[in-house]
Amino acid sequence: MEPKGLYEPIYYILAAGGKRIRPALTLMACNLYTDEIDEAIAPALGIEVFHNFTLLHDDIMDNADMRRGRETVHKKWNNNTAILSGDAMQILAYKLIGQTPESKLKPVLDIFSQTALEICEGQQLDVDFEVRDNVTTDDYLEMIRLKTAVLLACSLQTGGIIAGANDADCKALYNFGVYLGLAFQLMDDILDVYGDEKTFGKKIGGDILLNKKTYMLLTAQNLAKDEIKENLTKYLSDKEFAPDKKIKAVTDIYNALGVKSLCEDKMKFYFDSAIAELDKIGVDDAKKHELRKLAEKLLYRND
Ligand code: IPE
Ligand code: IPE
Ligand code: MG
Ligand code: MG
Ligand code: MG
Repeated sequence: MEPKGLYEPIYYILAAGGKRIRPALTLMACNLYTDEIDEAIAPALGIEVFHNFTLLHDDIMDNADMRRGRETVHKKWNNNTAILSGDAMQILAYKLIGQTPESKLKPVLDIFSQTALEICEGQQLDVDFEVRDNVTTDDYLEMIRLKTAVLLACSLQTGGIIAGANDADCKALYNFGVYLGLAFQLMDDILDVYGDEKTFGKKIGGDILLNKKTYMLLTAQNLAKDEIKENLTKYLSDKEFAPDKKIKAVTDIYNALGVKSLCEDKMKFYFDSAIAELDKIGVDDAKKHELRKLAEKLLYRND
């Protein structure tokens, strides 16, 4: 498709794959109620294209050079390309969502637009928090609810709406997605420090370099005393450190304070909350088995 400068980066990011969990959630939610899932395919694709759009812009905002084991779009091309191809993807996403059958279109569009706006709100908070030193863990949880969790929730609810699920089930699907999304982002933050670049596909330590106020950093700030506290404050405020040195120093502090396992505890708490919502959905347990399995897989992932 022409112009290549616009469409090649779109193909490049979509072809790089990723886990594609959001469209999977839409189709699986629909499949709780019916084997006729064809009507959910276009909106599921729309949600995945939208997610990939957010990645193009997120990588500019986070100054990230690597994604899905490849150079990011703004690194391989430039910022203008990542901005405009991202914009086009957002429009393509709406076109796909627009293919939802007319009787379901209004609620699907409403939840999608609301979610898209909330993601922007979350992304702004995420960036604001980099330079704020009074962020609480509750602030963090609200930020990740917005930037990450609501899209998983929207993916699930969309599948439910298209299948004709009742309001109570749609709500439970949404809440399942919110809790799953919170656990999912907590894991993403853990992998950003403790993951393996080869499987994670992103550079390790990016969040540390940007002073991202993750649950681990906030917990470390709360727990640190004396020399460790001084050290942490020094690394967060000084811009002169070599990147590798800062990543190692902050990771050492995390290790000394045991914040990884505290973050894992929080993640498990949200996983359990997610399962409690899944339990509320009014279909046979056997039908929910695959969603439960997927949720577990997401928790113990390395990518
Ligand atoms: C990355 O999402 C952005 C976050 C919300 C953490 P994924 O981890 O789903 O990325 P892909 O699509 O699998 O690459
Ligand atoms: C991203 O959070 C959330 C969105 C893309 C909306 P991150 O910045 O942690 O995602 P990654 O780690 O770059 O994938
Ligand atoms: Mg980000
Ligand atoms: Mg990022
Ligand atoms: Mg991340």
